[in-house]
Amino acid sequence: MKGGAARNSRDEAGPGGEAKGSAEGRSWRPSEWAAGRPAKDDAGAGKQHAALFAESRYPSATTCGTCHPRHFEEWAVSQHSYAQLSPAYMALQNFINLNVNGTNGDFCIRCHNQVGMNMEEPTGISNLERHPTSREGITCIVCHRVGNIYNKASGRIALVEGDLLQPVYGPSGGAELKRVLDNRDKYRVVTSADEPGRKIHTEVIEFKEMSTSTFCGTCHDVTLLNGFRLEEAFSEYRASPAAAEEETPFAALQGLKGQDHGSNDA
Ligand code: HEC
Ligand code: HEC
Ligand code: HEC
Ligand code: HEC
Repeated sequence: MKGGAARNSRDEAGPGGEAKGSAEGRSWRPSEWAAGRPAKDDAGAGKQHAALFAESRYPSATTCGTCHPRHFEEWAVSQHSYAQLSPAYMALQNFINLNVNGTNGDFCIRCHNQVGMNMEEPTGISNLERHPTSREGITCIVCHRVGNIYNKASGRIALVEGDLLQPVYGPSGGAELKRVLDNRDKYRVVTSADEPGRKIHTEVIEFKEMSTSTFCGTCHDVTLLNGFRLEEAFSEYRASPAAAEEETPFAALQGLKGQDHGSNDA
């Protein structure tokens, strides 16, 4: 970031939120958009530390992928993994924020990037400054570390924080996991932080609601602050004959892309 030409004023707002040049002449500055949420530590080693610490709070999809490779592969090529990286989304969000003096705030990003928002990253920093799990957009823990149905909350979701050992929420619960944990030596997994070896979540909490379309509707209806309905995949689906006929609403919304989320192969 340092010393670069001020091509993109957004990139000039450091984690501390100080805007450097480039935003002069505008009534709004990136630092204000970043809403005064300074990163805890800005220095080299401190930054590395912070990154490690964050991984222990919000594990990456690559970590989950070591044991769930098929789920990882399907997710990695889906739009969900692209939600915080999409240049179209970034450009549109920046354009809007610049033109409404920042009053749009976290409206876009809180639905495209829950990890970053839970970590209290500033909204207006470059993706290069974000924690790797934050760049993953709608990543594994955004769906599997959520124990509530939020309905149409415009994507404002509180994630359950913690390292890999923390429970995950899944459709069928922990029976299969229990079998694995009862045979730790065979499967070579460990369940405490100080034991060396391959760590695993210690529990799966059954969360049947995640197999309903309402779960997806948390983010798949976008209503703008002025009430304009920008996206309404979920409402359209609910109003359609398909909703009445569909045995698993989840499968119907999935049909948006015609992709199967995948069977369990861990
Ligand atoms: C936490 C928010 C969130 C939840 C929950 C969520 N999605 Fe998404 N979804 C997104 C975002 C954001 C995008 C757009 C990503 C992008 O391209 O920038 C997206 C994109 C998609 C797409 C691609 C759409 C297209 O036009 O290419 C499909 C399909 C999809 N989601 C299906 C689902 C299904 C099925 C569920 C429920 C199991 C679900 N989503 C739950 C946020 C969410
Ligand atoms: C957009 C939300 C969403 C994301 C992102 C997501 N999942 Fe899922 N996942 C689901 C839903 C919903 C189900 C339940 C599907 C059902 O009811 O059959 C599920 C089911 C599962 C299951 C249980 C077995 C199965 O296939 O039904 C595993 C394991 C799993 N996911 C792992 C992962 C991993 C690993 C990632 C990241 C690489 C991931 N998921 C990302 C929503 C998501
Ligand atoms: C409530 C959640 C939510 C909010 C808020 C939201 N989006 Fe999205 N966004 C989505 C979903 C879901 C999709 C996928 C839509 C689909 O294809 O059905 C999407 C898709 C997109 C896409 C097309 C795919 C891509 O990434 O290139 C762009 C661009 C985009 N959003 C930009 C924005 C901008 C800019 C804002 C703020 C004005 C915003 N979004 C606010 C959920 C949201
Ligand atoms: C060390 C291996 C390992 C790692 C790492 C791992 N899992 Fe699992 N996971 C398992 C095993 C084993 C099971 C039990 C068998 C099954 O249900 O697939 C399981 C089950 C699940 C289920 C299914 C629950 C259900 O209701 O069917 C979900 C969801 C899940 N894991 C998500 C995740 C997520 C998200 C991560 C990353 C934060 C992750 N897992 C990391 C091994 C692992």
